[in-house]
Formats: sequence, C-alpha cells, structure tokens
Amino acid sequence: MSSISSNFEKVYGHSPHICASAPGRVNLIGEHIDFSEGFVLPFAISDCTDVAIARTNENVIKIASVQRNSEVISVAISDISPNLKGDWERYVLGVIWSLGITTGLEIFIDGKVPVGAGLSSSAALEASVATALNSLFSLGHDLPTLARLCQKAENDYVGMPCGIMDQSVSLMAEKGSALLLDCRDLTTKNISFDVASHGLELLIIDTQVHHALVDGGYAERRGSCDSVVNKLKKISMRHLSLDELFSKRSEITETEFLRAHHAVTEIQRVLDAVIALEKNDFVELGNLINASHNSLRDDYTVSCPELDCAVDASLAAGALGARMVGGGFGGSAIALVKAQNVESTKMGIEKAFQDKGYKAPRFFTSLPSQGARTL
Ligand code: GLA
Repeated sequence: MSSISSNFEKVYGHSPHICASAPGRVNLIGEHIDFSEGFVLPFAISDCTDVAIARTNENVIKIASVQRNSEVISVAISDISPNLKGDWERYVLGVIWSLGITTGLEIFIDGKVPVGAGLSSSAALEASVATALNSLFSLGHDLPTLARLCQKAENDYVGMPCGIMDQSVSLMAEKGSALLLDCRDLTTKNISFDVASHGLELLIIDTQVHHALVDGGYAERRGSCDSVVNKLKKISMRHLSLDELFSKRSEITETEFLRAHHAVTEIQRVLDAVIALEKNDFVELGNLINASHNSLRDDYTVSCPELDCAVDASLAAGALGARMVGGGFGGSAIALVKAQNVESTKMGIEKAFQDKGYKAPRFFTSLPSQGARTL
C-alpha cells in the first residue's frame, strides 16, 4: 500500500477510492509571459504532492494533511464559495468548486514540494486534486482542460491572478524533457533536457525569502501588460513586435514600455532557448538564461537583492547561466553549472549570502520528471 493510502486510512479509518500525485516545477526560461499568450519552457521537478480521496454520503468535504498534523478541516458543501475564508485548504476547495463536484469527500494530502520556494507547491496541490477527481468521477477532462480548471480555481476561488504555466507543466510534463508550452492554445512540445550527459547540472537555489510584494506586485505587472495591449490595440503581447513597441513608445507610459520590453524579448528568448537546446548549445542557453534574469531585474523589476546575489555568486563561480524563476520577490533561482563545480558554486553562494547577512539558502537539484498521474 502506498504511504499516502495508509496515511489516509489512519485518519479516516478505511481505504481511499483514488490516489494521485502531481509535481512542482522550475522554469528554464519564459517568465511572466504565460498570461500574455507567450511561450514558456518549464520542467516538472521530482518533488510531488500526493493526495488520497474517498467519496462519502455526507454533505461535507473533509481535508487533512501530513504538513498540518493530520488535523481534519470540515467544510459543508453548501458553504463552498470564493467568499469563504480559510487557509491552504482553499486551493483544494477551489478545485472541487471549479470541477463542479457536489459530493461529500474525505481528502488526505502529503505536500512534498517545498512551500514558499517558488517551485509551485500550489499548482502541484491543485493538479493532484484535479487528477484524482477527474478519475474518481470519470469526468473525462483532457489535460489542457484540467489545467484551465486549476487556473480558474486559483484565479477565481483563491484570488491569485496567475497564468497557466504552473498548472500545465504539473499536469503535462514528461520525464527527461522540458515542456515547451504555447500559452495561447496549450499545445506542447517535449524538448529533451539531458544536461547530465553533457557534464552539467541545474542547481536550484532557494533564497528562503518571501517579500511582501509578491501578490500585489504580480497583479500590478500583469495589469501593466494588459494596459499596453489595450493602448496599442493588440490581442496580446504575442502580437507585438520589438520594432512596433519602440515605434509606439510615446503611446504608453515608460513603466509600461519596460514591462512590455521584458515580455516581447522574453518570448523570443524562449524560442531561441529551444533552438540552443536542440543543438546542445549550452553556452548559448546560459547566455539566454542570463539575459532573462537581467530583463526580469531591470525591465520587469520582480527580482530582489537575495535573488540577484544568488545569480551573481553563481556566475562568479563559473555558472554558464543563472536567473530567478517564478513570480519573483523571493523564492528560487536556477544556475546551469558544470557538474564538477556544483559544490564550489554552492560554497560561493553560501559565502555571498553570509557576507550580506542573508539567511542561508537551500539547494536542490532535480532532473525533469513526470507530470501528474493517478497512483
Ligand atoms: C507564477 C505564476 C505563473 C507565472 C509565473 C511567472 O508562478 O503562477 O503563472 O506567471 O509566476 O512566470
């Protein structure tokens, strides 16, 4: 019996009807462009959120998790609404709501994706619950539809105006590959990402900081992008060329120009990164990763001193490229590092953090892993 299943049984006294698992993610390149119909290139990490669910005849949803000492939270089905206050369980209720489930459930969760590290623990939670419910109720949703329903849960139930990248990669990733996702129509292409056989490793550096700006800052920048699109009468950033952006600079504010400059150049960097990966040109990939960080730091202004420090120290230690990942204002950075330099790079980053008086960072590595599945 899987451990999620036996943990469920300890809490609820019987076996679950379905178990599922979904991973967190890192993004190689393509940041803050998923809501602009851009391309992104994330991969699933090996850390997953597991969920076990049973149907009941009560009109109540019961939710417990390893991380909250298995304490059971009960919510009447009739109370489920975006206005209902709560904590992390709102992600679970949001998915139940967006999938239109009105049956009583007992749910047990084991979230092993580090929380607050910018590795999409929330998308992993949503995708695991959605995968389990899709199977339990034979809903027949395909993966892009499930991704949209998870995004709806986060946007409209939890109230975070995120794009579609995190949920999509958690649901659709394939082992060994980064996922080239076209955020306009959710079509995908698997891009082999086998850095190990080229003597490289992708180091994930969790800065362990989480700045207060996170939610408001994300929405504000998304608002700037929407404003540019409206003012320049475009469908999305995808339809805006760099030349046109420069020629119409006077029609938008300077801040909007910078946000759009990031978006337009980042979309192109993703396409260039795919070409670099297909040619096993990791030097070029490193250059693109660096350019992405500079753009996020200077044009989009979502980096922070700790992320910049992680990036600068990685490059000083010889990394081919390094950048912040995810929403920004804290969370994690990635560095593409020669395998033999991993330890010295970690030491260089640790020292740089110490010198600046920052909290010690945490390090992870992960190979590209499988997306969500029932267990
Ligand atoms: C967060 C959001 C994603 C995406 C990234 C930035 O992770 O959930 O939709 O916008 O930030 O690329």
